[in-house]
Amino acid sequence: MAFYITTPIYYVNARPHLGHAYTTIVADVVRRFHTMRDRETFFLTGTDEHGDKVVQAAQQQGQAPRDYVDAISRLFRELWPELNVRPDRFIRTTDPDHTAVVTRVLQKIHAAGDIYFSEYEGLYCFGCERFYTERELQEGRCPIHESEPELIRESNYFFRMSRYQEWLIEHIRRHPDFIRPERYRNEVLAFLREPLGDLCISRPTSRLTWGIPLPFDERYVTYVWFDALLNYVSALGYPDGELFRRFWPAAQHIVAKDILKPHGIYWPCMLKAAGIPLYRHLNVHGYWNIEQRKMSKSLGNVIEPLDMRNVYGLDAFRYFLIREMTFGLDANFSESAMVQRINSDLANDLGNLFSRVVAMAHKYFDGVVPELDPEVGRQFGLGLGPEARRTIEVYERAMELFELHRALAAVWEFIGRMNRAVDIAAPWELAKKKSTHRQLEAVMHSLLKGLRLISGLIYPVMPDTAARMQKHLGLDPEAPFYDLPELKRWISVPAGTALPKTVMLFPRIESAPAPEAAAAGAPPPAAAPAIKPEMTIEDFQRIDLRVATVLSAAPVPKAKKLLRLEIDLGERRTIVAGIAEHYAPESLVGRQIVVIANLRPAKLMGVLSQGMLLAAGTEAGPVLIGPDAAVPPGSALR
Ligand code: MSP
Repeated sequence: MAFYITTPIYYVNARPHLGHAYTTIVADVVRRFHTMRDRETFFLTGTDEHGDKVVQAAQQQGQAPRDYVDAISRLFRELWPELNVRPDRFIRTTDPDHTAVVTRVLQKIHAAGDIYFSEYEGLYCFGCERFYTERELQEGRCPIHESEPELIRESNYFFRMSRYQEWLIEHIRRHPDFIRPERYRNEVLAFLREPLGDLCISRPTSRLTWGIPLPFDERYVTYVWFDALLNYVSALGYPDGELFRRFWPAAQHIVAKDILKPHGIYWPCMLKAAGIPLYRHLNVHGYWNIEQRKMSKSLGNVIEPLDMRNVYGLDAFRYFLIREMTFGLDANFSESAMVQRINSDLANDLGNLFSRVVAMAHKYFDGVVPELDPEVGRQFGLGLGPEARRTIEVYERAMELFELHRALAAVWEFIGRMNRAVDIAAPWELAKKKSTHRQLEAVMHSLLKGLRLISGLIYPVMPDTAARMQKHLGLDPEAPFYDLPELKRWISVPAGTALPKTVMLFPRIESAPAPEAAAAGAPPPAAAPAIKPEMTIEDFQRIDLRVATVLSAAPVPKAKKLLRLEIDLGERRTIVAGIAEHYAPESLVGRQIVVIANLRPAKLMGVLSQGMLLAAGTEAGPVLIGPDAAVPPGSALR
């Protein structure tokens, strides 16, 4: 079975922000979910590059439209892999294969008599690039841009959309989940209660040249929505492409509520007129507001996705977006809400469970999964099996319905259940007596099964964390366990598997310490302190010292002592070090340093430092410590 998922193609008149990142991450999450069910998937995103808005934005930058669209489109394309999102195609409406499809479809609809020429006068919002009816306006203003539309009168080409009104109402009635969630289906049906009118699909070249010329009249270019919507089929090689044949019947779109009308009304009518079968589902989400206010350049509250990733970590950011927003409703973004979720859901619930279980495996079984007699397992397991089955069912259903927040809530209910099971079973008591040792083995196996299931279920949202968990559960990194039917089998980690000592999955985030504090990364004071021999070897072993290679280094804005280092420590981390006055950033790249890897992270001047480097404190300033010869990054110091 196939699965085809699309995001809107984003306008190139602004840099990518949180809203674009949310929709695109949602697409990535559902696509990963469908690969877990062995579906063939195709994931499309891209940029919408024609129209007035783009020309205006290019002019403001003093650039030709072509140069401008190339630059902004690249920002979008290059952002996605940074967020662990890898679309199969990144389409641009300036791509020649796309423009050819637009021309072809226009010709087809024109030849069928569904496009006619007429004079029109109407209220036009340049922000939305469409005409508004009086009724749609709010106090005479565009509901999206809050600006007054302009009265425009001109001769143009029109698409006979009104012809399809009854047919569309019927289609939506017959397919209750064509547009979901239901509130948006109802909204579209409400629009359709009024006469639909025809759609103006051209702009005279006297006003706009940056568009696709109409094949039947060179004096006009195509209206941006008529051009843009067709990307969903041109990307697949409509009409004859193999991809089109395979994936179009399984098409699902994701959009926010701002572009419900073009997707819920114009697009189905266009498809019908062009003789193309309709998409399966339109999945509509709400808007992210920032600290209760609309996100906008003028308010200066636009959230850059990479800033969030850099401070909180990619998986934590992805988790927050998916968990916090009830798909379909508006949600509020705030860093304090994010920190709260990271600390409670990720560090506490999931992180603690994971490190507790792996630590027990080390304490009671020397880090090797014990043998288990199935009968003992049945008798003394924690009874998590039925709960696991129920969790998978709820999760799968919720993911299919795009209720992603609910899918995660189900996983976290299961995590809570496991944490309680540990408390009730009290393995530390079972470990005290030889007679309860078999029982302890059964408990251990149940917990490992549960962790393995969790690692699979979180994969779509937190792929890196899933991989780390699986590595630490001793699973083969070459054969990751992201297969839903396999997860349903609820099987144990094989006896004899050696579990690597655990690392912290999600460190708690403390509120920011005083800037440039000596806590993380700042070297110790120059004066040598007196040495008091008080530490035991166990104390020392608690400190995880590792060799790391510096990948990049850059100053931290507004902090003259701090450098931000990206390091390879067997995994990629960011640390902040108070060495800016003594080391030039470029002199550090490629160098090996020693880092305390298990120090609780701290936020310094807005950057989350996930470790602390070691330097000798001298009168002249810090001197970095490193290995005598190159060693693999992540090597432990013993
Ligand atoms: N180019 C059109 C879409 C054409 S699709 C054939 C367009 N572009 S856009 O750049 O304005 O992107 C709008 C989309 O960006 C929304 O539908 C949504 O996916 C995303 N978002 C933009 N701001 C958002 C929020 N504040 N919150 C959530 N999503 C938001 O419209």
